[in-house]
Amino acid sequence: MSVATRLYVPGDASACSLGADELARALAVADPAAKIVRNGSHGLFWLEPMVEIEREGRRIAFGPVTIDDVSGLVERGFPGDHPLCLGPTAQIPALARQNRLTFARCGWIDPLDLDDYRAHGGFIGLNRALSMSARQRVDEVKASGLRGRGGAAFPTGIKWQTVLDCQAEPKYIVCNADEGDSGTFADRMIMEGDPFSLIEGMIIAALATGASQGYIYLRSEYPHARNVLNAAIAKAYHAGWLGPDVAGSGQAFELELRMGAGAYICGEETALLESLEGKRGMIRYKPPLPAIEGLFGKPTVVNNVISLATVPVIFEKGAADYARFGCEKSLGTLTIQLAGNIRYPGLYELDFGLGLRELIEEIGGGTASGRPVRAVQCGGPLGPFLSADRLDLPITYEDFAGSSAMVGHGGVVVFDDTVDMARMARFSMKFGAVESCGKCTPCRVGTTRAVETIDRIIAGTDRSGNTALLKALCDTMIHGSLCAHGGLIPYPVLSALEHFPEDFGLITDAVTNQQTPRVS
Ligand SMILES: Cc1cc2nc3c(=O)[nH]c(=O)nc-3n(C[C@H](O)[C@H](O)[C@H](O)COP(=O)(O)O)c2cc1C
Ligand code: SF4
Repeated sequence: MSVATRLYVPGDASACSLGADELARALAVADPAAKIVRNGSHGLFWLEPMVEIEREGRRIAFGPVTIDDVSGLVERGFPGDHPLCLGPTAQIPALARQNRLTFARCGWIDPLDLDDYRAHGGFIGLNRALSMSARQRVDEVKASGLRGRGGAAFPTGIKWQTVLDCQAEPKYIVCNADEGDSGTFADRMIMEGDPFSLIEGMIIAALATGASQGYIYLRSEYPHARNVLNAAIAKAYHAGWLGPDVAGSGQAFELELRMGAGAYICGEETALLESLEGKRGMIRYKPPLPAIEGLFGKPTVVNNVISLATVPVIFEKGAADYARFGCEKSLGTLTIQLAGNIRYPGLYELDFGLGLRELIEEIGGGTASGRPVRAVQCGGPLGPFLSADRLDLPITYEDFAGSSAMVGHGGVVVFDDTVDMARMARFSMKFGAVESCGKCTPCRVGTTRAVETIDRIIAGTDRSGNTALLKALCDTMIHGSLCAHGGLIPYPVLSALEHFPEDFGLITDAVTNQQTPRVS
């Protein structure tokens, strides 16, 4: 007997890696009459795979569910007193305290059902954008205060304005879906859980700038996202949202998915454009800016997935409404990806301005090991390590920049007090060496020599001299590198030396005073 009309089992890569596919199959066997919807994940990973049942118009969640739990749940009709019952999904505290604007639909809808998308507010933003002029569309994005979520935090509206003002044709919209930063997964989640929001955002970007062709540059490590995006693009074409006359606007916008080959540097916008043109992913000199001479030398908007997927809600609710969230020049919400040694890892969409301590201790529940937090790395592999005494920092672009920290793509990776920060610093620099594009000497040679120097410090060989050498190398990379890869990769190492000198066998005072360190 079917006890459920509709069951929701996430189909995104994180839930599938925890057994969601097998679970969906077992549910289908146990309850053949139930309709099983493969939604996106709500981002509460410690509860995945999470199964939801629709009851009286509400969704009731159970999790984490294993195959062994299936028969008991189905036979008893998913009872509210089951130990795995989490109550109404919307009231799960970790979801209820978020302000989900970009991720409003993710986890709630069938990602590939256009009717479901529309029923949850999809295309309202695009329909409003269609009633505006190109300049009004750009002004709307400017007024929202949206800054690029890919890392550089450049104002999105100003980038669009530059492309709109260019006379050359054709113009391109390129979505940067390379998502190479350690501990980040927001791009993947939205592409797998709500792909039409990205497509809608790209269409609005095209209407605002006069672009006729779009590309999504996706990392090859994301096969689930590739399948979902390809299906979503085909459906959007079929429904007339893409093609020679976008939604009756008279403007053409064609959209294609392109797969990267898996190099971190191909997330940097100019290397990405080289790769899209079929060349080796190497940095281009700037200027010219991609907005003026980008893909095939033509004006190009390069935006991150989250930046573009946030555009529809800005147009749906209005720029002023979006700008109500956040503070100062960090407006709206940040999709924070909480990972590492943390009890409640996942995706949290929260207003800018929240404290790092509140995020880690209250929302994240502290470390998974139960031991004290010792270090946090924000902003991906190029972000400096923060020591536990800096957790009172509010998460805004301004506060982070003023405190030698990086918001980047919103990744926050937590370490407990068993971490060896000298090893982490080495790992960071090694990553920099492996992923260097090789175009300039400070980065190509400097990163490799820096790894060797860290090894000598760890081994206790002339710690004083090698630490001075390492700092000089880092200084050369910071000031002499052609792009932010070589310019930023020294910071994790320098921050580890400054805040955790004991892990390198160095005396604290000497290093924090930036003097020649004494050998311990
Ligand atoms: C080494 C390096 C890697 C980067 N990787 C990414 C990435 O994976 N995804 C991304 O959106 N931006 C990445 N960026 C930033 C892009 O160069 C660019 O600023 C961004 O895509 C612009 O989009 P936004 O303004 O919407 O953030 C990277 C930058 C550097 C220097
Ligand atoms: S800094 Fe590194 S990644 Fe950037 S251009 Fe130079 S070699 Fe390439």
